[in-house]
Amino acid sequence: MAPIVFVTRPLPAPGTELLVDMGFDVRSNLEDRPLRREELLSGVKDADALLCMLSDRIDAEVFDSAPSLRVISNYAVGFDNIAVAEARARGIEVTTTPGVLTDATADLAWALLLAAARNLGAGERMVRAGEWTGWAPTQLLGEPLRHRTLGIVGMGAIGQAVARRAQGFGMEIVYFNRNRVSPEIESTLGAQFVSFDELLHRSDFISLHAPLNEQSRHMVDARAFGLMKSSAVLVNTARGALIDEAELVHALRDRRIAAAGLDVYEFEPSITEGLFALDNVVLAPHLGSASTLARGDMVRLCCENISEVLAGRPAVTPAPG
Ligand code: GLV
Ligand code: GLV
Repeated sequence: MAPIVFVTRPLPAPGTELLVDMGFDVRSNLEDRPLRREELLSGVKDADALLCMLSDRIDAEVFDSAPSLRVISNYAVGFDNIAVAEARARGIEVTTTPGVLTDATADLAWALLLAAARNLGAGERMVRAGEWTGWAPTQLLGEPLRHRTLGIVGMGAIGQAVARRAQGFGMEIVYFNRNRVSPEIESTLGAQFVSFDELLHRSDFISLHAPLNEQSRHMVDARAFGLMKSSAVLVNTARGALIDEAELVHALRDRRIAAAGLDVYEFEPSITEGLFALDNVVLAPHLGSASTLARGDMVRLCCENISEVLAGRPAVTPAPG
């Protein structure tokens, strides 16, 4: 009998056809919405493999419902939605999609950085509201980039791709990471390793690219905002809970920092109400990996991971740890 793969949401091209071509018995949620808990639990019942989204919480209760499960292929590079240690303790492999979404996510971080720095959100709202009366010498003045300092928090593949783009804008780069990257990478990127506090203190722009875990949750809190420049622009394309979102609202409202560009939210898909009223924040709907190329490559990589593990071979891209 063909192994069963359960897919929790419709996928972009090449889609689940790829799994059918690989010879699997594919069972999918055909509605474009997150599964309710009980639908997820019943969907995985006979599954050998699960292809799931970052919005699916995959924990012991799911494993209990899925006695045949051998691999969880997360359609994301982050994996904070999955109890990885618990899965591995039960002999279930967990895989992610690194690499293929690096450029897409770095591009989006820059889109947000530029939009927040140059008041693009406020300007767009003004134009659409019919409130723009024409060019003005004092209108919506933003922050320049050249010779300013970009602080990158999390110097993995995406952080490095963001740093490469910063060179084109003529910026100074400092970074913080759990582990210092190699001297070769530092010198290619022109990036200086600093402590987290020094980064907060020195940076004109701060972009977050760290994974979410118990150490990084709320790393940007009231204390951190207190160390930032009042002209600082904060960008988050990683995970919402890296930032204490209630404190971010206070910091933006009181102009303790200048602006923010957000693609991710602490209580996604809910967004802290106070953010909506603020003109100095750009709000994107978690689009980091949303390019046609990246999303197609993520499908291919998810499917390869499933076929390798079900064939008894090592995963192509197992979740780290
Ligand atoms: C998206 O947020 C991802 O982790 O791939
Ligand atoms: C970020 O990617 C890190 O390794 O901390």
